[in-house]
Amino acid sequence: MKTVRTIAELRAELGNARAAGARSVGFVPTMGALHRGHLSLVDASHAENDVVVLSIFVNPTQFTEASDLAAYPRQEAADAALAEEAGVDLIFAPSAAEMYPAGFATTVRVTGPLTETLEGAGRGDAHFDGMATVVSKLLLAVQPDAAYFGQKDAQQLLVVQRMVADLGIPARIVACPTARDSDGLALSSRNVRLSAAERERALGIPRALERVAAQLAAGEHGVSELRNTAVDVLAAAGIEPEYLAFVSPTDLTPVTVVTDAVLCAVAARVGEVRLIDNAVLNPA
Ligand code: PAJ
Repeated sequence: MKTVRTIAELRAELGNARAAGARSVGFVPTMGALHRGHLSLVDASHAENDVVVLSIFVNPTQFTEASDLAAYPRQEAADAALAEEAGVDLIFAPSAAEMYPAGFATTVRVTGPLTETLEGAGRGDAHFDGMATVVSKLLLAVQPDAAYFGQKDAQQLLVVQRMVADLGIPARIVACPTARDSDGLALSSRNVRLSAAERERALGIPRALERVAAQLAAGEHGVSELRNTAVDVLAAAGIEPEYLAFVSPTDLTPVTVVTDAVLCAVAARVGEVRLIDNAVLNPA
């Protein structure tokens, strides 16, 4: 496994790999602090491609809080060891100056409900602008056959799918299921910032999603009833959600009665740490 820091080196490495017979390149974009969730994306990429590229770049433009950017965990040496073990062939870990050279003045923006609701409302539009811009740059740099994204960030996945379709970027976008700890908490790089007591409280989030799934499976289709259940479970853990949404899993429009698959998405702060989680649920 090799680590490269410039787009020119990345292109040279991938050119060599293709010349040596590699037929497909799979790409896993990350901000590092790798955990089993990221590695499940690497596994999916490894299963389907000859070469796996993983990027590590804590993208400053998608952070809307300076404190969140400053506190974001950085552990490149440990990440490299995990990536190598998981079968990554090439790590692309550029500097901010490599991704945003002097004079950089382009923004890729997906408009409408996909970016204005949920995370777009909670974190401000700059978040998805920054994310879409860096992901389009990364896809142009790597030119993968397929790129792997987690359902954990369900809205991000929809924004990326929209952007790739709209711009005609020739990469297949693959959605991978959310990896969880054995107690149900969705794996996240931010979990390391939770104290033991906060981590225990954070379990209210997956518990709320499970209770809603059970109530829906038992025949309750009214969103206000399902929402009350989730709010109660969260409150019992001392969590007041920033949002708790029941929306269409394809276009994020609000649902009031569940007749088809519904995306239940939650964002909440536990202590200083902002966590998100979701589940796509089906009525009985
Ligand atoms: P990051 O938060 O590092 O996540 C990288 C990828 O891992 C994303 O596709 C995310 O959905 C996926 N992921 C995170 N936790 C997961 C889990 N528990 N199970 C499955 N997949 C999980 O998302 C970003 O970085 C950035 O926005 C990025 C796309 C790299 C652009 O900067």
